[in-house]
Amino acid sequence: MERSFVIIKPDGTARRRVSALVLKALLDRGYRLVAFQEMKVPESLAKLHYAVHKEKPFFPWLVDFISSAPVLTMIFEADDVIQGVRDALGATFVQKASPESLRGKYGIWAGINIAHASDAPETAEDEMKLWTTESGLKESSDAEALARAYIQKHITSDADYTMDLRSVVKDAIENRDTSSEVLNSLKELFAKDAVGIEKEDTDTLAKVVFDFVIEEAEKTE
Ligand code: RTP
Ligand code: MG
Repeated sequence: MERSFVIIKPDGTARRRVSALVLKALLDRGYRLVAFQEMKVPESLAKLHYAVHKEKPFFPWLVDFISSAPVLTMIFEADDVIQGVRDALGATFVQKASPESLRGKYGIWAGINIAHASDAPETAEDEMKLWTTESGLKESSDAEALARAYIQKHITSDADYTMDLRSVVKDAIENRDTSSEVLNSLKELFAKDAVGIEKEDTDTLAKVVFDFVIEEAEKTE
């Protein structure tokens, strides 16, 4: 029996219906959920979680992204769950993820890709140790019931702003439009289905996505 540590990242969690659909898709694969908690990720923990990428140019952005707004953290248990979750998510980059995969369906652009999942048994162990000591993530017998209640609460809305967010990001990069209108559209879209999340947090998430747009727009010059 294996365990996988999964995070629905801020771009997924701020879109409550999308996070409910992702959670449901993973539970529908028959995995047992042994821990489930919503939290804001402290910057210090974000740095430790992504330490493997600390030399990469995108590391500071990645730390800002994961700590921008609340995430859903969880531990799944099942045979071959590590590869299973990664298969369900699809390729890291949204444009490369197959359209049937969760990132292909709900990811926004590039690494703004709705979820993290452990990539091997050793990293899964390390991540679970890190998050249970540093974030207070706990195994709990009611994890699955909490997740089902979350799904029931959020799946019913007909809100899905994936396509709107994608086109704002894609058009802005292609047209090298880094005006405040782009930032304002992102702020508005991320707040639309962010039930129970502070506006300050969805604004921070929008700003981090906007920073990515600026970087990509500069590359196309
Ligand atoms: P994750 O760790 O989040 O589950 O994703 P992964 O294994 O599929 O991808 P990984 O290579 O570990 O990268 C971690 C996260 O960093 C962001 N990323 N950005 N701009 C870039 O070139 C770039 N490359 C990676 C993504 O959010 C990716 O999920
Ligand atoms: Mg990874």
